[in-house]
Amino acid sequence: MNTPLDAYWMPFTANRQFKKAPRMFKKASGMHYWTDDGRQVLDGVAGLWCVNAGHARPKIVQAIAEQAAEMDYAPPFQMAHPKAFELAHKVAELAPAGMNKVFFTNSGSESVETALKMALAYHRVRGEGQRTRLIGRERGYHGVNFGGISVGGMVANRKMFGTMLGGVDHIRHTHDPARNAFSVGQPAHGAELAEDLERLVALHDASTIAAVIVEPVAGSTGVLVPPVGYLNRLREICDKHGILLIFDEVITGFGRTGAAFGAQTFGVTPDLITCAKGLTNGCVPMGAVIARQSIYDTFMQGPEHLIEFFHGYTYSAHPLACAAGLATLETYADEGLLTRAAELQGYFAEALHTLKGLPSVIDIRNVGLVGGIELSPRAGAPAARAFDVFLDCFNAGLLIRTTGDTIALSPPLIIERQHIDQIVGTLATALKRVA
Ligand SMILES: Cc1ncc(COP(=O)(O)O)c(C=O)c1O
Repeated sequence: MNTPLDAYWMPFTANRQFKKAPRMFKKASGMHYWTDDGRQVLDGVAGLWCVNAGHARPKIVQAIAEQAAEMDYAPPFQMAHPKAFELAHKVAELAPAGMNKVFFTNSGSESVETALKMALAYHRVRGEGQRTRLIGRERGYHGVNFGGISVGGMVANRKMFGTMLGGVDHIRHTHDPARNAFSVGQPAHGAELAEDLERLVALHDASTIAAVIVEPVAGSTGVLVPPVGYLNRLREICDKHGILLIFDEVITGFGRTGAAFGAQTFGVTPDLITCAKGLTNGCVPMGAVIARQSIYDTFMQGPEHLIEFFHGYTYSAHPLACAAGLATLETYADEGLLTRAAELQGYFAEALHTLKGLPSVIDIRNVGLVGGIELSPRAGAPAARAFDVFLDCFNAGLLIRTTGDTIALSPPLIIERQHIDQIVGTLATALKRVA
């Protein structure tokens, strides 16, 4: 080992570049981080789309500490603890009507794997075991495990990893800058892109397709907001063919779009919802799959002493995560945070769209408290311009996230208007400086 930074192989990071000029956080509270050299940094991305209630919230901190002291761990297979049931109940209360069974995981990626397996097993249990195909969407992000990258559609996350799952296909993505650039909120054009599912049905036959998975708002690929009517059309086509619809709400869950789930914001109820991140405010790793009652009921067959679904994790419903989750949901309720994005989205959208016309800005997209600012790539150096903006903002006291040449914003839902002004002001300066 040469330096203290050598041993840690960092995820989704340019390791060599980072280790030459590390960016370290040491403390966090409310809307801010502090670096190891004491600089305050405004959090424009809720950590990584997860700290929806802001940092170091007292109820959550206390709940985790108390739980660790009272009971550190309980096995989740054939045993349980009360907070697991309480949290499942609370999550089900927030979910769309009829979606009231909650299966706990430890991350968004695990939620995706769980939902895909649930979909396959569901069809098999009901005697349609030939429905083995899983359909994703181009530019989709569903975590990094093999199921998730198979149905996902971001090439860099897929190309190094062999053949992945068999029997997977993809519908077209919805990004259409020629018609929709600088849309405020949901773009007007593109509902018909959902018809691409009919193309795959014609190719494979509906009887072979188990499920379709999409993010209501595609986040990691660069904030693609669903065109008006698109998700409704997808739902209709799934219903027509007996295909399960999975919404991956790892980013959109827990208030990001102005309601508890994107399903409610966009008025479309899927069969399964995957979530994570905001479930525990990012404080303890936890994810969940929320299923329709009818899916759960389908599994509840056969002799009662037999396990119905051969799936689960050592840390499913971990006591610390459940304690954090309960305190998080209480904090959201106390402070009205799950609808705060709806209240602030007008101000946020207006501020964001003032960046139109600045150097390199070719599109701005928004919904709730999510924003995307797409920049034209530098010739021969994709992603470099946005990364320079990221560095400039970080040095100026603002944390943003970039993916390719798109800047993504998803601030904690406790954000105030002056923070929005600061985010947009810092970005404007950075965009002019980096050019
Ligand atoms: C839509 C979506 N699904 C899945 C994941 C994976 O979550 P995790 O990183 O917790 O595994 C993410 C992470 O950003 C996501 O945005």
